Amino acid sequence: MSETVGRGRHGDTLSNQEHDKEELDGSTMDDWEERESGRLPLPESRHPLRKGRVPTGTHLRAQILERIQRGIPLPVPSSDEVLGAVLSLNRNISLLMDEAQLVEAHLEVIRDLLPGRRLSVKLVDHTGAVTLVYRTEDPSRAEEATTARISRPGLERHSLTPEAIDHPGVEVTDRFTPDYASPVGFDVPLVDGDRISGVLAVEYYDAAAPPEADLSVVGQLALSLSSALRNGRVMRESLHLRDYLGKVLDHANAPIVVIGKRREVRVANRAMLEITGLARDAMIGRDFLRILPEDERARILPAFSNALHGRSTKDFEVQIPRPKGGVARIAFNIASVLGQNGEVESVIAIGKDLTELRNLEDQVIQSEKLATLGQLAAGVVHELNNPLTSISVYSEFLLKEAREEGAPAAQEQKLARIVESAERILRFTRDLVTYARPSTEAPHAVSISEVIEQSVVFCEHVISQHGVTVTKRFEDHDAVILGVKGQLHQVFINLITNACHAMPLGAGALELSTRAEGDEWIVASVHDNGSGIPDGMIDGIFEPFFSTKGQGKGTGLGLSIVRNILRQHAGKITVSSAPGMGTTFEVMLPAHRR
Ligand SMILES: Nc1ncnc2c1ncn2[C@@H]1O[C@H](COP(=O)(O)OP(=O)(O)OP(=O)(O)O)[C@@H](O)[C@H]1O
Ligand SMILES: [Mg+2]
Repeated sequence: MSETVGRGRHGDTLSNQEHDKEELDGSTMDDWEERESGRLPLPESRHPLRKGRVPTGTHLRAQILERIQRGIPLPVPSSDEVLGAVLSLNRNISLLMDEAQLVEAHLEVIRDLLPGRRLSVKLVDHTGAVTLVYRTEDPSRAEEATTARISRPGLERHSLTPEAIDHPGVEVTDRFTPDYASPVGFDVPLVDGDRISGVLAVEYYDAAAPPEADLSVVGQLALSLSSALRNGRVMRESLHLRDYLGKVLDHANAPIVVIGKRREVRVANRAMLEITGLARDAMIGRDFLRILPEDERARILPAFSNALHGRSTKDFEVQIPRPKGGVARIAFNIASVLGQNGEVESVIAIGKDLTELRNLEDQVIQSEKLATLGQLAAGVVHELNNPLTSISVYSEFLLKEAREEGAPAAQEQKLARIVESAERILRFTRDLVTYARPSTEAPHAVSISEVIEQSVVFCEHVISQHGVTVTKRFEDHDAVILGVKGQLHQVFINLITNACHAMPLGAGALELSTRAEGDEWIVASVHDNGSGIPDGMIDGIFEPFFSTKGQGKGTGLGLSIVRNILRQHAGKITVSSAPGMGTTFEVMLPAHRR
């Protein structure tokens, strides 16, 4: 094979694959700089000067020289031999070969068909620089051979004139200029579109006119080499373009998909893959609708068929389940992509992630509701407070008196009911106000284990009423968070009360624990062995007024107050439950550094 006589930037010995890789990788940085300038960069189709040699066997060369001395004409191949060689050459060259390999393969064929000729190839790039020199002999002189020349007769034999074709870097001479200082020779242009991309030259040892057949053989192989070099360049450029566009898409912050006529995903960028949690391989080729939740498909189908039929479509919003839970709310704008014949070939959907915006909107709606509720509650509390306090105070007084006077049990019971009910109403109105109005008290450093201990004391009544055993496990007694103590009490009172309500009378086991999660979070967990929460219900329990406790028993505000308080503390709450086995609520609060 080739013998390296010089080394370019990439070196001649790089394998084709390594070479391609290096070219793509190496161009990345430039690409992004170029992109700024708005010019779409294409790779250099040539490399800095590379030189090589296709060796002619010294034995064969000696034989030929001897023949020449004896006046025997040079061997000329039959047309069958030429055809066979060209066919086998075309079978063996592949789009993945680089220029040096293509040149070498062609020179080898010419050398085999036309022994005893000295061959050379020079390639020039679009800037006019000679980028590759190949010689079958005298490789040491390749260094000097860095000017490309073509003779006017050489051009004319191929029906070209210097005026009709671009020839940057190629000097047009009136007569053939030998590269090896041979007495005779001829040259053939290599052409890429409207530009001379190189020159193939053939030279002879003696002054006899070249055999007529040489011109045609070399002409055919020059054509084949021109088109192989051109295909290689187009291939490299389109690979580069594909790679470049892929990078541009991947860097886009918006999810982008291109969907074919059978609704198959053809292109999906990184943002899209992240949202769906699918690997690129799993995404490409998949029916796009199957990526969307089932109940969304029917709604979105018309938008796609419109776009596929070239009609304009409205944007649509979809909810895509995220791999790690939750849903992404994406608004897609879709447009038809036309093929070369003007028909719709595919549809491009460019999304905008609205998840955060929608969540904020929900929160605004929620706060508006709360504000209204707060005003209402404040009014109600105001109106109720005085009469209720009277009811509470006087009924308690009457109850005490009845007990002291030994009134009938039935009467005592009725009075006790009045006291209890008045307290319930007071508690409810207080809850309502807390729920709707955020606390204005400033947060302090509080010990989480202390808050839990105190909450247990406040819940003593419900704990003993249900016969619950309480176990406490605090990983770090001194763990501190920043919060409003009264509100944090409410969180744990609500959770403990709910747990007591859910557990079997006399057999309840309540576990209260705290632990650190990394440096950032303190997690407090409230675990019970109660009835658990059915799967379908778990999403609803934090909603205001959601209760399963029946009329007059629960108002369903407890957990929504808990959630609001935790939000105000930059914390969160999660729940896991197995029906029949129990429930665990985990409260996460940011750890406070003292
Ligand atoms: N530990 C638990 N085990 C089983 N179910 C629970 C538990 N905690 C809450 N729930 C369910 O969640 C619902 C809502 O709880 P939440 O505390 O918000 O309201 P409530 O307890 O019904 O009424 P309120 O707390 O306002 O008196 C409860 O009715 C119950 O169905
Ligand atoms: Mg409750």
